[in-house]
Amino acid sequence: MLEQAKLIEFIQRGDESGYLVALESNKEIPFEMKRVFYIYGTAEDVVRGQHSNRKSEFVLVNLAGSSKVKVDYGDKEEIYLLDKPNKGLYIPRMLWKDMYDFSSDAVLLVLSNEPYDADEYIRDKQEYYKEIGVLK
Ligand code: TYD
Repeated sequence: MLEQAKLIEFIQRGDESGYLVALESNKEIPFEMKRVFYIYGTAEDVVRGQHSNRKSEFVLVNLAGSSKVKVDYGDKEEIYLLDKPNKGLYIPRMLWKDMYDFSSDAVLLVLSNEPYDADEYIRDKQEYYKEIGVLK
């Protein structure tokens, strides 16, 4: 059974005059952070992701704008809407994810427990189903 993705609501500090969200390893973020990247300027109708990671876990936060994440667990799919800078989505290892429906102003922050390693990516959906033991 694969571990589920999980929405996390971060504490929004400040008031109407301005807000702040603070993220620390092993507190708000459920791992030791080793990598940060962000996705922006994504054209309409583009689907990013379309892969699974054998080692990397992620937390995704739309700092501006909005986007959706579809997670394929092999036996079911879930869609998560990221539309607030204090809302994160934790994605454990070995889930297949597609990011799509990016608003034109979307800035999607991604935090990970691993440095980038192209070899830990599964980019073929059939290979993914094979590795998680699902027959399709
Ligand atoms: P890619 O994984 O293809 O992004 P997406 O699947 O969302 O379209 O990454 C695009 C490029 O950026 C590719 O050349 C690999 C590089 N990259 C890094 O160098 N470090 C990283 O942490 C990531 C995620 C990508």
